Amino acid sequence: MAADAETWAGVRAQLVGSRFDDVRVLDEVDSTNRIVLDEARAGAPEGLVVVANHQRAGRGRLGRTWAAPPGGSLLVSVLLRPDVATDRLHHLTMAAGLAVAAAVASVARVDAVLKWPNDVLVGERKLAGVLAEADVAGGGALRAVVVGVGVNVNWDAVPDELAPLATACNLEAGRAVSRVDLLVAFLRELDGRLRALDAVPADYRERLATLGRQVRVELPDGPFLGRAVGVDDAGRLLVETDDGQTVEVAAGDVVHVRTTSP
Ligand code: BTN
Repeated sequence: MAADAETWAGVRAQLVGSRFDDVRVLDEVDSTNRIVLDEARAGAPEGLVVVANHQRAGRGRLGRTWAAPPGGSLLVSVLLRPDVATDRLHHLTMAAGLAVAAAVASVARVDAVLKWPNDVLVGERKLAGVLAEADVAGGGALRAVVVGVGVNVNWDAVPDELAPLATACNLEAGRAVSRVDLLVAFLRELDGRLRALDAVPADYRERLATLGRQVRVELPDGPFLGRAVGVDDAGRLLVETDDGQTVEVAAGDVVHVRTTSP
């Protein structure tokens, strides 16, 4: 299906029985995460989904912006009111990353993996990212979590400045990929994983291409090198350095370092 011929009509009907029963499709917004977070603070129930054709100020991890060509990406945020302890919140973003990879496999027939913490890659190129933002009450109680996902779906080409780093579903599949089908598959996959949250960490580790890799961890006070050896229950990446220390990385950027063959 040509990307611009697709219609969002009928998405709701395909999601009957899922928790995601309030899907709103907008043309141009600042950020779908911002919209859903505001709705959450105003009392909207779990299940709200906001999809946009284009974002002027998409939000990325670590305070970055998330830019994408208009009409070529799946830009979606969902509202969750999960009954989980705050120390298990990262299971939601793990579930979202897994759901994106599964949706891309079923709709585009493209094999995607995860890079810590929640990038979705094809090979070493980024296909999608996940950003969760929480609404936490003054006393620390979790009121809502907004999980936002940006998937590069139908791009004419990867912009020069992103060329070695990014890809899109159509460029991997060799054909246009329906954002509607991808959205429905993603929401179904996410719903299923949220219903079986205990299984998520093991599935996540299984799909995490970072494990076993040499990595460069970029932290505000400088980078260091090591081998990614695990992810602990708090979602931290465990990195073993050359001097035998294990460093727990809670936030930061991780680069998969290419190892040269002997
Ligand atoms: C990352 O930095 O990798 C996470 C990017 C998340 C982008 C998505 S696009 C839809 C949703 N709305 C936003 O403003 N951000 C997320």
